[in-house]
Amino acid sequence: MKTVLITGCNRGLGLEFVRQLVGLKNPPSKIIATCRSIDKAQELNALKSQNQNIHILELDVTNFDKYNEISEQAKDIVGDDGLNVLINNAGVTTKFTRLNMVKQEQIIENLIINAVAPIMFTKALLPLLKTAAANNASAPLGSSRAVIMNMSSILGSIEMNKKEGGFYPYRTSKSALNAATKSMSIDLKSDGILTISMHPGWVQTDMGGKQAPLKPEQSIKGMLGVLADLKVEQNGLFLQFDGKKLPW
Ligand SMILES: NC(=O)c1ccc[n+]([C@@H]2O[C@H](COP(=O)([O-])OP(=O)(O)OC[C@H]3O[C@@H](n4cnc5c(N)ncnc54)[C@H](OP(=O)(O)O)[C@@H]3O)[C@@H](O)[C@H]2O)c1
Repeated sequence: MKTVLITGCNRGLGLEFVRQLVGLKNPPSKIIATCRSIDKAQELNALKSQNQNIHILELDVTNFDKYNEISEQAKDIVGDDGLNVLINNAGVTTKFTRLNMVKQEQIIENLIINAVAPIMFTKALLPLLKTAAANNASAPLGSSRAVIMNMSSILGSIEMNKKEGGFYPYRTSKSALNAATKSMSIDLKSDGILTISMHPGWVQTDMGGKQAPLKPEQSIKGMLGVLADLKVEQNGLFLQFDGKKLPW
């Protein structure tokens, strides 16, 4: 992949994506990392100061009115190459919520950030993804052409929700995102764009907490491997960081 855009790169998995992408043997020529506040993104700014291929754009994903501006800025950065990979990573969670405790605002916030935003942001960046896919029409479908990776969670799997229950805001938002992944995979395949939902594993980030078994390094290494080897047969699947297929 030559060009990639990742949302939510101030910390956690987004930041680690950027860190590992610049460290690849053949790094992308353009890595667009979005964050809510450039001033506060110290680690991301430090990475950028050492790597000219990093471009930082400021985006709160709830600011839907800014999507077209971001798309224009991204277009200026990637030029004729278009965008090979879009990683819809920014996300929030509300702590474990029993039905008798859950609040309407929590459900709405999770749905907007984890489901509505990735759908609308993908819509805004679609022309750039189509350009990359068309430019590389002789390459097999995959990250040399165009891929959308929606960062979901195993908690969005309805099939795997067997005992624990709860988590109404987060589960419903990630299930909704998974439904969007499936539709995108159907709608965009003929444009040469593949779409997957990804579970990064349970990872030590602010969201995952210290007790999580995986380090961001392991999760991102796995997901970049999945991205690099992605095949047309995996279009519209829900995959774990190590490539294992998960049930919806
Ligand atoms: N860690 C896990 O175990 C785990 C498991 C399953 C799925 N995931 C998913 O993986 C993704 C990344 O999670 P993480 O573990 O890296 O979480 P994290 O450490 O809490 O980081 C979340 C990132 O999302 C950004 N973000 C939140 N709301 C935003 C908004 N309105 N606009 C723009 N950016 C926003 C944050 O920006 P600020 O720094 O500005 O707040 C931050 O960069 C999420 O989609 C999450 O649901 C994580």
